[in-house]
Amino acid sequence: MENEKIIVLDFGGQYNQLIARRVRECNVYCEIASYRTDLEEIKAQHPKGIIFTGGPNSVYDPASPTYTKEIFELGIPILGICYGAQLMMHLLGGRVGRAPVREYGKIEVQVDTNTALFTDVSPSTICWMSHNDYIEEIAPGFTVTAHSAHCPAAAMQDVSRGLYAVQFHPEVLHTPEGKKMLSNFVYQVCGCHGDWKMDTFVESTIASLRAKVGNGRVLCALSGGVDSSVAAVLLSKAVGNQLTCVFVDTGLMRKNEGDEVEAVFGPEGPYQLHFIRVNAQERFFSKLAGVTDPETKRKIIGEEFIRVFEEEAKKIGAVDFLVQGTIYPDVVESGLGGESTVIKSHHNVGGLPDYVDFKEIIEPLRNLFKDEVRQAGLELGIPHYLVYRQPFPGPGLGIRIIGEVTPDKVQMVQEADAVFREEVASAGLDTQINQYFAALTNMHSVGVMGDERTYDYAIALRAVTTTDFMTAESAELPWELLGKVANRIVNEVPHVNRVLYDCTGKPPATIEFE
Ligand code: XMP
Repeated sequence: MENEKIIVLDFGGQYNQLIARRVRECNVYCEIASYRTDLEEIKAQHPKGIIFTGGPNSVYDPASPTYTKEIFELGIPILGICYGAQLMMHLLGGRVGRAPVREYGKIEVQVDTNTALFTDVSPSTICWMSHNDYIEEIAPGFTVTAHSAHCPAAAMQDVSRGLYAVQFHPEVLHTPEGKKMLSNFVYQVCGCHGDWKMDTFVESTIASLRAKVGNGRVLCALSGGVDSSVAAVLLSKAVGNQLTCVFVDTGLMRKNEGDEVEAVFGPEGPYQLHFIRVNAQERFFSKLAGVTDPETKRKIIGEEFIRVFEEEAKKIGAVDFLVQGTIYPDVVESGLGGESTVIKSHHNVGGLPDYVDFKEIIEPLRNLFKDEVRQAGLELGIPHYLVYRQPFPGPGLGIRIIGEVTPDKVQMVQEADAVFREEVASAGLDTQINQYFAALTNMHSVGVMGDERTYDYAIALRAVTTTDFMTAESAELPWELLGKVANRIVNEVPHVNRVLYDCTGKPPATIEFE
């Protein structure tokens, strides 16, 4: 069954993914396509509506991205946002120029609530504006449906042609009623019914995986992270024992993590699949002995992982399909969205296809945003703690131990990290902090324990809040919590006599220490 679809035509706006996510939150499937996409290709997808994104350019600059005017004649409703609104006006005979007053930030906008787009929206509503140009004159056939103090045409419509345009950004959370407006567009204007739901996605994906795989054999590298876990469970439900999951325990995972993964996916767990756990700890430790440079450690860990996986794959022999946990942002970020041939090159398990004997890659999560992957995980009955697991870097604790990695140091950082996680969770802060962990510095310092002088390690704690992991703020943890964690760590973890808290944001620091 084909889902109803909205196409976000991307003119280079920084919020292209946000628009698609908001539309999907309205239960309508949405994909991002480059403005370079041919009109015939757009038509062939039978979208129920099209949204033009914003973008950094000026429509009157001849080098700016544009589109054929024919798109307005398809009879498909179109919503233009910011640059997209200006482009619509420009192409249809309106006039866009430099605004006498540049609007940036949260602006009060008066909207006509008797219009489809603003139904149930407050007559005076806060909208996020960010524009240097403005619409001086709307195109023939349009009427103005919203204005602000410095923007006489903040929204406009031509109902007969199904064309709508807003100067502001309804997709960002700074526009509190923006989601309502997008929902009005997809339901009231485009006539969608809302058939994008994770329970039906899960059901139809399992059915189509079953049809695709047939009697074939499927191989999956399972890390225990949310993407590979959800992908594995979908395949397990589709083809059961035809699926083999290889889980490489690098020895660089968090405390008990290897056993936790095995408990869920191993023979004692609820899923039908062949589970292979490779205890490769010693191999990783010996490769890492004496190595201190972070990038070299990363490279060694990545290469060793591939080698171990390759050896396992050789034992299994030829398979028909290899599973990859690629998700939609990987697809969008690896080129312009919707250009479906590109695969993210720096994927965590990237490089595998060169080493493993398989015919085809399957990417069951290719169309999902991260929050949708999590929802699918819950639909599939995957334990909550696994679905909401915080991000964990591919090289694992290898980059949370500054300098040389040794089994003793791994144990220290695992114990300290377990204490920190336990206390953050019992303070009820685990859902408010996006990533938090302990790292082992290579600083030795003097301490005193009982009556004895010690010369031991310092543990650094890191906790950040972030939405995209590109920028982050150090979380303001309660002093009482930090004190308790510090106290427990120095008492419970041998050879640690000092605990530090990292107050640096990103930038200038990164989230990880190496
Ligand atoms: P940084 O340290 O760059 O981290 O601020 C941003 C996010 O990426 C994760 N990270 C990694 N993930 N391989 C990964 O798979 C890596 O080498 C790596 N380094 C950092 C980090 O945990 C954070 O979520």
